[in-house]
Amino acid sequence: MSQKIRIGIIGTGGIAGAHIQAYQKMPDVEVIACSDIVPGKAEAFVNKFHIQGARAFSENQDLLALDLDGVSVCTPNAAHHQVSVDALTAGKHVLTEKPMSVTLDQALDMVRVAKRAGKLLTVGFQPRYDPNMQTIRDIVQSGVLGKIYYVQTGGGRRRGIPGGTFISKASAGAGALADIGCYSLDMALNALGYPKPLTVTAFSSNYFGTNPQYYHDAEHFEVEDFGAAFIRLEGGVALNFQLSWAMHMDSLGPAIFLGADAGLRLTPAGTGPWSGVWDGGVGSITLFHDLLGHPTESPIALQHHSVDIFYEKVRAFIVAIRDGLSAPIPGEQIIRNQAIIDGIIRSADLGREVEIQIPEW
Ligand SMILES: NC(=O)c1ccc[n+]([C@@H]2O[C@H](COP(=O)([O-])OP(=O)(O)OC[C@H]3O[C@@H](n4cnc5c(N)ncnc54)[C@H](O)[C@@H]3O)[C@@H](O)[C@H]2O)c1
Repeated sequence: MSQKIRIGIIGTGGIAGAHIQAYQKMPDVEVIACSDIVPGKAEAFVNKFHIQGARAFSENQDLLALDLDGVSVCTPNAAHHQVSVDALTAGKHVLTEKPMSVTLDQALDMVRVAKRAGKLLTVGFQPRYDPNMQTIRDIVQSGVLGKIYYVQTGGGRRRGIPGGTFISKASAGAGALADIGCYSLDMALNALGYPKPLTVTAFSSNYFGTNPQYYHDAEHFEVEDFGAAFIRLEGGVALNFQLSWAMHMDSLGPAIFLGADAGLRLTPAGTGPWSGVWDGGVGSITLFHDLLGHPTESPIALQHHSVDIFYEKVRAFIVAIRDGLSAPIPGEQIIRNQAIIDGIIRSADLGREVEIQIPEW
């Protein structure tokens, strides 16, 4: 395609900055317009990032009326659904930020609309582009672990509650479990080949976000800052998932995959309050294999790379549009991630196990 790919950005807050900086590195992409419901915010964004010739709107429909190939949806979680549906209906390909949505029904609707429109719907999980995440998937898929029966994923920030749109139920829909939990779920489910979730029993709490001693905006905190869930996956796999934005503990432990023949332990990279969860890089990978009765531990060499994973996720969207490929991280797959989050919210509210049923689309 000799013509440039024409992109719009909807929601010009924090993460939109990473999207525009990625697009601005691509000579075959032109960002034509930006929109944000807060009047003047899109215009300030266009000026701040010197987006030559881009138009700025406070109505998404004005942006969607333009001749665009694709749209980055960078609104808070609760708006991913409607904004994506509007963009797909207007004939644009969509890269939506994570988590895909808040509820399973919203995710289903997004996939159905994308299918009807014949447009790409891809979800922005940039850790997928960390080569070490591919290594984890390759090991799990290779069969070296034997029958995998138990997976533990998640992780905990000791003090890492975000602010703004992340703590309001109306805009975020849910707290830590959806915000960073979706990454942990994606790491585990992607390695396993995205099996279907069957049931979930979950617990969540908010002892830190609502306490002014620990959080500066406690009076506005409406979501959970900790959660734990036990999920049954098809194929006889139990998934134990825990996540915190804040707690009195340094870590909730590593991610582990237990197989009948071997086990795998993973730690997240980084240090400090924002580490310990799968929203960054891979810290270590160790394979536990008991051969002839002798337990062995083999650290797997990490690939120290200079991959800009955020750039790669945005680039994959553009390449898919340009080359007519399927969605790099398809909505049809991430429905299962969203179904677990939806199940967690329902189960934690009801205080009991719930079934997860994902209708056909
Ligand atoms: N991939 C990542 O690394 C990463 C990092 C941070 C945030 N995120 C995700 O990106 C999304 C946005 O996060 P953020 O930190 O940029 O939040 P933010 O609050 O800084 O920005 C969101 C913007 O969207 C605007 N907005 C809200 N509703 C809208 C609507 N209906 N139409 C148009 N604009 C609307 C808001 O006014 C705001 O400017 C969230 O879903 C979050 O989970 C992803």
